[in-house]
Amino acid sequence: MKDLIKRMTETHGPSGSEERIREQIKKEIRGLADSVRTDTLGNLIAVKRGRGAKVMVAAHMDEIGFMVSHVNANGFLRFSSIGGIYLNNIISQRVIFADGTVGTINEERAENPSDAKRMDKMYIDIGAKDKKEAESKVAIGDVAGFHRPCEFLGGRVIAKAMDDRIGCAVMIEAMRRLKASPNEVHWVFTTQEEVGLRGATTAAFGVSPDVGIAIDVTGAFDTPDEKPKLPAVLGKGAAIKVKDGGMLAHPAVKKLMVDTAKAGRIAHQLDILEGGTTDGAAIYKTRSGIPTGVISVPTRYVHSPSEMVDLGDVEATVALLTAVLKLDLKKKLS
Ligand code: CO
Ligand code: ZN
Repeated sequence: MKDLIKRMTETHGPSGSEERIREQIKKEIRGLADSVRTDTLGNLIAVKRGRGAKVMVAAHMDEIGFMVSHVNANGFLRFSSIGGIYLNNIISQRVIFADGTVGTINEERAENPSDAKRMDKMYIDIGAKDKKEAESKVAIGDVAGFHRPCEFLGGRVIAKAMDDRIGCAVMIEAMRRLKASPNEVHWVFTTQEEVGLRGATTAAFGVSPDVGIAIDVTGAFDTPDEKPKLPAVLGKGAAIKVKDGGMLAHPAVKKLMVDTAKAGRIAHQLDILEGGTTDGAAIYKTRSGIPTGVISVPTRYVHSPSEMVDLGDVEATVALLTAVLKLDLKKKLS
């Protein structure tokens, strides 16, 4: 699974520019579903037909990024943010466009070094000697993501875009392991989550599932600042969502996840987040409401170029998702 995590996290695909990561996922899931299609917003939907409950399993394939908004006379690029960019995380970082063009983010000198960082004072330098050379490489509206290799540090791994390519890797691995399911499973690799759950919103409407399950990252509250008293930490297993900024998990789905983890002796913990949310919040509010739960992978430094997860937690997330999908959800949730 390590190679899969590496391929998933290193591929380009900020929100709205998911072409490369979608093609990569298509390759990974070849032969694992009865049908595979891409919808209008670019969601990749793989269906494994069955007679039972229609289950939508979702992980977003987009990542945060930077959109070129202006090219100046000297060939420097101004940019607009795609998703939740922390300005303190990006100075001196390298970024890469879909065609492989690499740049580095920098900023104009501040009058006062303690001034708050401002995106309109920042720029991407792609090494162009003038506007003409810059425009031969990038156009207004092109989008770059962080450029970092995925690296394994013993039992843990750091990469850019772990949010939410780790969820994509979990889904692909579960598709490989799940030989048969009493349910009809719609595996949805969604677009544009980082700009407001947009892909999951239309995909959930289109699929119209009986049950929703989102797989995403959540905060890990075990770093030296020890500020928030929230439960999820690295190394204690799959995190079962209770609440985040966008939803309260459906109690029956949450209970089913906890019971299934206990029965299968799968390492698990609960997930409560004050802010942020997942595709689950979009699925939950579809039509007249869909019972929805979320399994999260605890992650340090979310939305930085070096997001860290624990491989044991990833394994537990695959195991829990697979175990839940083996249950007859029509019976269990009626
Ligand atoms: Co995110
Ligand atoms: Zn996410």
